[in-house]
Amino acid sequence: MSNGDKQRIEELRAEIRHHDVQYYVKDDPEIPDAEYDRLMDELESLEKEHPELVTPDSPTQRVGGKPLDKFDEVKHAVPMLSLGNAFEQENVEDFDRRAREKLEVEGAIDYSCEPKLDGLAISLRYEKGKLVQAATRGDGETGEDVTSNARTIKSIPMTLSGQGWPDVLEVRGEVFMSHEGFEKLNDRAREKGDKTFVNPRNAAAGSLRQLDPKITAERPLDIYCYGIGEISGEPFAERHSEILERLKTWGLRINPEIRTVQGVKGCLDYYGDMQERRARLDYDIDGVVYKVDRLDQQRELGFVSRAPRWAIAHKFPAQEETTVLNDVDFQVGRTGALTPVARLEPVFVGGVTVSNATLHNMDEIERLDVKVGDTVIVRRAGDVIPEIVQVVKKRRPGNAKDIQLPKTCPVCDSDVVREEGEAVARCTGGLVCAAQRKEQLKHFASRKALDIEGLGDKLMEQLVEADLVHSPAEIFTLEKHRDELVEWEGFGEKSVDKLLQSIDNSKETTLPRFLFGLGIREVGEATALQLAQHFGTLDKIMQADADRLQEVPDIGPKVAQRIVDFFDEDHNRDVIKALRGNGVHWEDMEGISEGPKPLDGKTIVLTGTLSSMTRDEAKAKLQALGAKVTGSVSKKTDYLVAGEEAGSKLDKAEKLGVEILDENGLGKLLES
Ligand code: IVH
Repeated sequence: MSNGDKQRIEELRAEIRHHDVQYYVKDDPEIPDAEYDRLMDELESLEKEHPELVTPDSPTQRVGGKPLDKFDEVKHAVPMLSLGNAFEQENVEDFDRRAREKLEVEGAIDYSCEPKLDGLAISLRYEKGKLVQAATRGDGETGEDVTSNARTIKSIPMTLSGQGWPDVLEVRGEVFMSHEGFEKLNDRAREKGDKTFVNPRNAAAGSLRQLDPKITAERPLDIYCYGIGEISGEPFAERHSEILERLKTWGLRINPEIRTVQGVKGCLDYYGDMQERRARLDYDIDGVVYKVDRLDQQRELGFVSRAPRWAIAHKFPAQEETTVLNDVDFQVGRTGALTPVARLEPVFVGGVTVSNATLHNMDEIERLDVKVGDTVIVRRAGDVIPEIVQVVKKRRPGNAKDIQLPKTCPVCDSDVVREEGEAVARCTGGLVCAAQRKEQLKHFASRKALDIEGLGDKLMEQLVEADLVHSPAEIFTLEKHRDELVEWEGFGEKSVDKLLQSIDNSKETTLPRFLFGLGIREVGEATALQLAQHFGTLDKIMQADADRLQEVPDIGPKVAQRIVDFFDEDHNRDVIKALRGNGVHWEDMEGISEGPKPLDGKTIVLTGTLSSMTRDEAKAKLQALGAKVTGSVSKKTDYLVAGEEAGSKLDKAEKLGVEILDENGLGKLLES
């Protein structure tokens, strides 16, 4: 064996470890993924040539070792405690008062405020900087040895970096699964026809307490460390916040949301802040934790039973609750889609009382196996529409009723059909159906379509219900009903005139807006723009057959047929004629349809603030040159255009090695 190989193996390991910390711990990668993969490939092939040089802490060993029959028990040198809970502000104030009294301090106590992650506690034991054991919390005294599984978690270093760590260092933290990882895992399971996990916490628990480490290795687990257990030698810090800082320098991952604050006011401000940010985090938290920051004060406060007197968990209102499904109604949308809506026994969840939840479609009802009368788990996270996530089968009553798709539309009685391979069932009534008409009218007036200011969803519903508007064209003859409208409650001369004026203003529109407003199925904002740019005039679009339509990028046979069908319908042609007759107009576009365009096939993402134009303008210009403009960065992105204050998209692009353009670069691209 050559000495060169041995040296190269060590170099590669050190380099990979460094990049692991940058990527997984500091969220600050220095090299693109492809380059990292090359380092790993090189190490793998060298280790294959020299199996005798493989060590358990080599980065190649994260793939998972042999399956176990059962987990060994681990007795914790320092017990893993639990936390007392506070649900109300008062409980936090009491906690702070008791601490100040016992410590005999007059002023405010310094607290470390941390998100309370909803995962599983773990204890990692490092000896001489090497990970030697990982254990679950168990009952706090004795846990399970999950070392081989922990080794597969990329953000757990197998070797500590930096210097100054004690010979024995037990680190405590929470293992969890991010939302992104959870979604991907469930997508994969669905593809393979495997069972999916109900929530990220269950997925994390099932993955960490998994006898086959190879399975754990495929699960996107992550860790945030929040404290220490046993250490050898002298204490290395005087404050909890300082412990976390030191852990970070040793390559351990610390939650970036942790703050040190003063007194109970600081804690409560932090709580409000985190509650507001909660929905935007990529992981579940069920509250925050306040910890007295000074370690001497912690020691003086000590413990009661199994919980410290120096820390408390301040819980958020639960996002999941159980309640009973009383009934299911079907709502009809703009395109006739029937959405089953669950009528629930009212329940307080996610901070509000919920009595309705969406069931999405019939496939979802089948997947959940839910019946009327069932006890169900309802989830409301942030501003998201409440959902039923699970049925409590054990509590199913004997008289539970199957949920059936109605054969006819609950609004207009037209037939309901469910097309082959589609999850969605639809009312075939078209604009005969009052529900579809109402939704279509709302869509027509909405911001991205004709953008009629002051004519929002609620007013449109009232107009339809009062029988004043039946089709989009009638919006433009509303002045006929001025006298009647002036009498409406909450209205008056002034507001009616304002509305009529803004209706009049909206007559001057653009072809893409008009097309989008027509509500042709599968023709969204982007497709409408492409159609307009390609053909230039509405008449040309109306005359195009399915083949011609498919010359437009992104329009396939299905969408092309929808467009042809739409314009074949006499009724739709009449509506368009009437709209034009009532003065709705736009400027024709050039129709740059001929020949290839300079940015054909390029995928571009815009982020941050541009100074010379809005993002929408930049988007339209790029699309006119043939580029596809998307909302999120992936490996397929060709360029990221980053304006001022670009955030996470810029980080992601850097991570993926996507080419980044500033405003100048965008200018050059547009000149192309
Ligand atoms: S400190 C002595 N900090 O909550 C203090 N725990 O109810 C021990 N948890 O078992 C825990 N995030 O699994 C602490 N920032 C955080 C936490 C946290 C989540 C979990 C942990 C613990 C449980 C206690």
